[in-house]
Amino acid sequence: MDRIRIVGGKKLNGVIPISGAKNAALPLMIASLLTDRTVTLENLPRLADVSLLVRILSNHGVDYSIDGRRQGEDPDSGQTVHMTAREIVDTTAPYELVSRMRASFWVLAPLLARCGEARVSLPGGCAIGTRPVDLLLMAMERLGASIDIDAGYVVARAPRGGLRGGEIDFPKVTVGGTHIALMAASLAQGTTIIRNAAREPEIGDLADLLGKMGAKVQGAGSPTIEVEGVARLNGAKHRVLPDRIEAGTYAMAAAMTGGDVLLQGAQAEHLQAALDVLAEAGATVESTPEGLRISRNGNGIKPVDVATAPFPGFPTDLQAQFMALMTRAEGVSRITETIFENRFMHVQELARFGAHIRLEGDSAVVEGVPTLKGAPVMATDLRASVSLVIAALAAEGESMIQRVYHLDRGFEALERKLSRCGADVTRISSGD
Ligand code: EPZ
Repeated sequence: MDRIRIVGGKKLNGVIPISGAKNAALPLMIASLLTDRTVTLENLPRLADVSLLVRILSNHGVDYSIDGRRQGEDPDSGQTVHMTAREIVDTTAPYELVSRMRASFWVLAPLLARCGEARVSLPGGCAIGTRPVDLLLMAMERLGASIDIDAGYVVARAPRGGLRGGEIDFPKVTVGGTHIALMAASLAQGTTIIRNAAREPEIGDLADLLGKMGAKVQGAGSPTIEVEGVARLNGAKHRVLPDRIEAGTYAMAAAMTGGDVLLQGAQAEHLQAALDVLAEAGATVESTPEGLRISRNGNGIKPVDVATAPFPGFPTDLQAQFMALMTRAEGVSRITETIFENRFMHVQELARFGAHIRLEGDSAVVEGVPTLKGAPVMATDLRASVSLVIAALAAEGESMIQRVYHLDRGFEALERKLSRCGADVTRISSGD
């Protein structure tokens, strides 16, 4: 297993190109199952989760091809992938694959809408909590599907004549629930209303692709979405939106180390809540035509209380990174996690750097310390691991981060992006 070695104390200065968003790429790729025509996705990030999903989709019958590098293209820039599900050959998504990546459970919707049936393994819990799928199943039932659970699998069947439009009222905002409701409703007969829909930019990105494929979707990005189903969808070409969580992560790293970083391609409206908090913490945030510029010169880090919330609130996917920043604040901050019940695994690992953090129910109370000390630490999930990278960048001396495969799931070329800005970061492959 690879490790990452970081010698802390270097300010980040330079340009970091922001990759295509993982959490947009995954539902966009899954939407290719809705049509027998080719869906072309540009700016697809080179990530372990994307490669795994390609394998999962090819199991259902999706052909894919990846464009080679073009003249003058940066080897780290996103890929263009063509996906064609001419025929669905298998409507089962097996445990071995779904258990490795939760989002693959979402194939349920396109398989059900296009083939009238799907058998998809329940994903099970994961490192950040129990993460049930009851609301996703409720959404499919509202469109007329019958759902049975058989030996750990969800067996879903559409009524004769296919799914039909319906009213889906989510009692709680769910990103995955909104994605699959959108996909299934696009091919259902009649009109579907989705209430209390998630408003994350990735929902808007999926709605954009579906619109290009011929779906009739209105209101994506607002709490109420209306979808008028169509009999079939076409192919389309779409560019994956920039990764707001990657951008927010490097923004925290810039604020943590001091220095001045341009996050090329990042869009302020996708992470305004995080930018506001960073400004309160003492960073300078500037939106430029090229992207977001984050700097912190001279002044210390101020403590700020934060509670995670669905978009447009402060994202749970930046909670761990923000906690890393607060470990060096000049005072006490309280960070409350309202989305997932167990997303605090990074607390123990941050303590290894000398951070003072106390858990109180769904909150972490962080008492800032003047210095962190490098340490060997272990990554536990994707966002927790990158919070350790942020702490290590500011810690005195050397840190060694184990289980780097978590980072590879969601951060494209992390060590190259940081090294180019002056950080001392090296990947040590298992063979070395
Ligand atoms: C998406 O997960 C993201 N994953 C997560 O990113 C992100 O943390 C999360 O949204 C919240 O923003 C992808 O986009 C691939 P939810 P999702 O359904 O859709 C509860 C990362 O690090 N819930 O919005 O699975 C659930 O337990 C990942 O990139 C139910 O109770 O999240 C949670 O408390 C991790 N029943 C809340 O809703 C359900 O049927 C929000 O979850 C579904 C969800």
